[in-house]
Amino acid sequence: MLPEAAVIDRAVVLLQAGELVAFPTETVYGLGADAANPAAVRRIFAAKGRPADHPLIVHLPADGYLDNWASDIPRQAWELTEAFWPGPLTLILKRARGVPSAVTGGQETIGLRVPAHPQALALLRAFAEAGGGLGGLCGVAAPSANRFGRISPTEAAHVRAELGDAVRLILDGGRCGVGIESTILDLSRGAAAAPRILRPGAVTPERIASVLGRLPEIASQPPGADAAALPRVPGALAAHYAPLTPLRLLPAAELAHLAEAVTAGQSCALLCHSRLPATPAAALLVRQLPAEPARYARELYAALRELDEASADLILVEEVPATAAWAAVRDRLRRAARGAGGQDLKQLSSNPSSALSAPRCDEE
Ligand code: TXA
Ligand code: MG
Repeated sequence: MLPEAAVIDRAVVLLQAGELVAFPTETVYGLGADAANPAAVRRIFAAKGRPADHPLIVHLPADGYLDNWASDIPRQAWELTEAFWPGPLTLILKRARGVPSAVTGGQETIGLRVPAHPQALALLRAFAEAGGGLGGLCGVAAPSANRFGRISPTEAAHVRAELGDAVRLILDGGRCGVGIESTILDLSRGAAAAPRILRPGAVTPERIASVLGRLPEIASQPPGADAAALPRVPGALAAHYAPLTPLRLLPAAELAHLAEAVTAGQSCALLCHSRLPATPAAALLVRQLPAEPARYARELYAALRELDEASADLILVEEVPATAAWAAVRDRLRRAARGAGGQDLKQLSSNPSSALSAPRCDEE
């Protein structure tokens, strides 16, 4: 194995040549390319199978590079970068002149963050020192390194399984510490408008309020509701982060009961955080995650992959508490349930076996 400095050098050469490099961040693995190079950015969309009008997050080595990418940066943005960068917070700002529209999906705004992972920072700094790519803008565009609509990778092996040879190099930083994607906060609507959370994450509304002195708005985007008024955020599509196996969310009280109810020739895999009275007979696999939101989030995506690979007919997931601390996890579980061919829980509760005929919905 090459020493880490040599791997970073190799990654920088590939980025400069317009190739793709996957790298770990504290949230999930990213699929990186020179953000100022439209041809390289197009490679990201092709590898992910993602529509080209969806904007990408640009990763920077430090907040000193913000001006390369954003204009009209409000004071609030600097207060937040001071408090949370490097870290799992993406800011949506007005884009600077000269930012190629390939990376913004044609929008007038840009998503920016400085990740808190030593390998990601080493890569971003080395890329900047080597000239920073086209135009010297020093940004690496990186969506989560999964196929469009699928579960984000939290280990290097997940990236290989998702993307195969489409990615030239994968930096292996072990398991990601946060485990779910960054909080996305929209500050692009001008100083008079309230900051708005487009995707919940580890940086909670309360932590943002502790810096800004006011709670941000939270964008709710029920399917079909004012979607046109919001910036396009693939992570905000109803169906996202989904396993291939149909997935259902169930109240804790019904978990064991329903698992029993699917035994008629069918199998299930269970994800829970409370202790089950007994292992249900129908369960091929039971994964119990910590009953604490940050630790649960860290293990969630790897557990969903494992359950997906169990070849069960159905994944049953115990609902997490309806509290603020669990909001980001709850958001991902809801989308996973919809993406996997979601079916109304009430219908399932009244007729558990009907879940087994739910349509598969592999892509959004
Ligand atoms: O934690 C993360 O944010 C990870 C790591 C790799 O940094 N990245 C990630 O990227 O989750 P992705 O592309 O899978 O999700 C980024 C989200 C997308 O939903 C995208 O639409 C949104 O950020 N986004 C990017 N630029 C935007 C913009 N200008 N306006 C609104 N949303 C934007
Ligand atoms: Mg993603």
